[in-house]
Parts: sequence; structure tokens; C-alpha cells
Amino acid sequence: MNRRYRKTIIAGNWKMNMTATETKKFAEDMKKIMPRVKWCEVVICVPACNISTAMKAFKEPRIIVGAENVYFEPSGAFTGEMSAAMLADLGVKYVIVGHSERRQYFCETDQTVNKKVHAVLDAGMNPIICVGESLEQRETGITDDLIAMQVKSALFNVSAEKLRRCVIAYEPIWAIGTGKTATSEQAAEVCRNIRGVIRNLYGARVARGVTIQYGGSMNPKNAAELLAQADIDGGLIGGASLKPEQFLDIINAANGE
Ligand code: 13P
Repeated sequence: MNRRYRKTIIAGNWKMNMTATETKKFAEDMKKIMPRVKWCEVVICVPACNISTAMKAFKEPRIIVGAENVYFEPSGAFTGEMSAAMLADLGVKYVIVGHSERRQYFCETDQTVNKKVHAVLDAGMNPIICVGESLEQRETGITDDLIAMQVKSALFNVSAEKLRRCVIAYEPIWAIGTGKTATSEQAAEVCRNIRGVIRNLYGARVARGVTIQYGGSMNPKNAAELLAQADIDGGLIGGASLKPEQFLDIINAANGE
């Protein structure tokens, strides 16, 4: 983390978990244990059908509501999809774009990720752009090139002004939901390289202001060490964000330094 130059953001990604009823219960439980958090922004990205419920329920534990996906077209015959304007109108602040599960199961490509990034930014929201390599890609030694390509493609035609609202989440696919976390050195190295890519594109001043998260089996045990790395400015947390105590422990771990 480097709070002098950029925001620390602890974000949950609930994926396809939690009903509206469970969302209210989670908020009640969080309310009982959550301190007034000043050291980071706390976000939870919830399934689209729970956004309105979360928007009300998360007011008191002071959790910012995010979405897990968006479609890039502004409106029209796209059955089942949601536009950025629809999400913004509900009060959504952050939208996850390009999660590896969407790339893997729903044919998301670097090009559609870029279109979604623009849609989110144009609607005044902040994209959390996910990048990450598979185990095979890591073992082939192409991690740095691949991540650089994902970052460059996602940010294609994004102005420096708008880049300030972008968050990058480095999520190695092999560490997601596997209980296998990247070592803090591995995570720090990739996050440093991501900042390097942004520096080459936008210059040092802009690059140092960008929040870069780590995601992939982040939990109360490993969070402090990961967050202590200079270029890791937060976490994108799946499993551990479903449990109030664990999520709180990670929020508190961001209070180090
Ligand atoms: P886990 O924390 O469950 O590994 O999920 C990480 C993730 O994919 C967050 O987007």
C-alpha cells in the first residue's frame, strides 16, 4: 500500500452467492462488528438482483455497493443484460470488469473488456479491471507479457483523466478459489509490473495514483503480508467476503503500516 498517493480498496466479490435475504442478514451482522473505517474504502460487489437490497442494507455498515458485470451497449435488444446507466441509476459505484470467470465461462475477451471499461467510465462509475494468468501460462513464462497485454487492451483509448477512476485487480487464475495464494513476492512482482505498464502509457505521476488490488484466496491469515507490499493497494476477495468476521479481519489488515 502507499496511502500517500492512492486509495486502499478492500472489495468483496460475492460471485453467484447470497440471496437478498442473506444479503440483509450479512449487513445486520456486519453492522454489529464493523468499526468506522477510515483507512480504506470498503466495497462489496453483489449479484445484480441484490443491488437494490444491498444499497439499503449496506448504508449502516457503510459498505459501498458494486456490481459484478455490465453490458457495454447503452440499450436495446440484449435480453438478460444490464447497461451501465441502469447500474449507475441504482447508485452503483464500482463494477467488476473482465473477471477470469467471465472470460472463461462467458466468452469475455480483451476487446469486450475494453468496451465495458468505457461504458462504466462514461456512466460515471469506477471499473475494477481484472487481469491474471493461468497456471499453464505462468509455467510457460509468459505471465508478464500476458498481463501487459490485458492491461493495455483494457485501457485502450482511456484518457489519463478517466484512468484515475480505474482500479486494476491482479487475480492469478490458479489462486482463485483454490486456497492456493500467490506468495507476497509473486503478487508484488506482477503488481509492480502492472504499474510499470501504466507508467509507460501514462507517465509516472498518473501511474502512482492507480489502485492495484490482489485477488485470489486472500484471507485473514495472508492479507496483512500481501497488503504490506508497496504496489498492492487492496484486495478483491471472493470466499472470505461472504463471512462477516473474515471480511472484517481483512479490512483491519489494511490498517497496517
Ligand atoms: P477467492 O477469494 O474465493 O479465491 O476469489 C477471488 C476472486 O475471484 C475475487 O474476484
